[in-house]
Amino acid sequence: MTAHKYAVKKIGIIERYQEFLPVTDRTPIISLNEGNTPLILAEALPLELKLNNIRIYYKFEGLNPTGSFKDRGMTMAISKALEDHSKAVMCASTGNTSASAAAYASRCGLKCFVLIPEGKIAKGKLIQAYRYGAKVIMVKGNFDQALELVKGMTQDGQITLVNSINPFRIEGQKTGAFEVVDDLGDAPHYHAIPVGNAGNITAYWKGYQEYKRAGRSEVLPKMLGFQAAGAAPIVLGRPVEKPETIATAIRIGNPASWKGALSARDESGGLIDSVTDDEISWAYRFIAEREGVFAEPASAAAVAGVRKLAKKGFFLENTRIVITLTGSGLKDPDYALSFDDKIHTIEPTLDAVKRAVAGK
Ligand code: F0G
Repeated sequence: MTAHKYAVKKIGIIERYQEFLPVTDRTPIISLNEGNTPLILAEALPLELKLNNIRIYYKFEGLNPTGSFKDRGMTMAISKALEDHSKAVMCASTGNTSASAAAYASRCGLKCFVLIPEGKIAKGKLIQAYRYGAKVIMVKGNFDQALELVKGMTQDGQITLVNSINPFRIEGQKTGAFEVVDDLGDAPHYHAIPVGNAGNITAYWKGYQEYKRAGRSEVLPKMLGFQAAGAAPIVLGRPVEKPETIATAIRIGNPASWKGALSARDESGGLIDSVTDDEISWAYRFIAEREGVFAEPASAAAVAGVRKLAKKGFFLENTRIVITLTGSGLKDPDYALSFDDKIHTIEPTLDAVKRAVAGK
């Protein structure tokens, strides 16, 4: 029997990418083995979009420990908060950040306060915040208002802010780009990503640049960001006071990392565009029903964006496109059940099953 038979291999993003992250031997690593998510080759989508010789990959972040990409940033933010002897953390959230903050805080005994827009977050995310033991505070307002309140509450440094204006969040999230390059052997030509508070597009762009500088990749991708049409401040060039979209995760009217998103767009030669709720809905169903990948509506916004561009003949042949699917479809059961799927309830007999199978 070997000595390390029962040892647990540390495989979180901090251990994997320590040399690219602002951590030291004194940083307590709070991890749930986040990251290392699969890059899944799209099969139905390129056919549907008639894209010849173009490879599309889904970076499926819904398989992180709390079901979204936020875990990459949160392992860093919580580890650094602990290193700084913080006793409590706080965030505003459309749901995923609060789920992730609550989980990582629970793991190391930090108090966690989450401010969420009342009635506007997906049920799965709300359940997570409660069950991981956070103090959930509903705000009669939207995300942007909640974030302002969190900034006010954390100003004196007593409570650590863990939204993506905390730079350690961006540091952690940039590892998504590292993994893409590690898996593909180089960066893709295009990276499509949904944009809400704009932290993630900022983080991916930082990651791609740092990896190239370190000689790990030869090319840089063009960053393609997509906002929901009813919550598209960056596309419109002005804040949206009352953002609305079915993709509640990106229902944000005044993104904190607005500037970062513009840099990612302009430095990479990419674009930021909007997609309608109908387009998001189409993409949401398509990737689940045709690719077997169940992601939440906000994630589908990036797929919808790629479809919109493909229809205009935007993509050249022989290119690779990576789409970040930011969160799991299981997060939002109400939206998932909002379609008019036929419900077959039958008597427990073979005949009844046969009739149902035959569509009678
Ligand atoms: N996709 C999902 C599933 C998200 O939860 C978010 C953001 C985004 C995309 C957009 O990422 O904000 O970095 O541009 N959710 C935040 C939250 C706002 O509170 O969970 P972003």
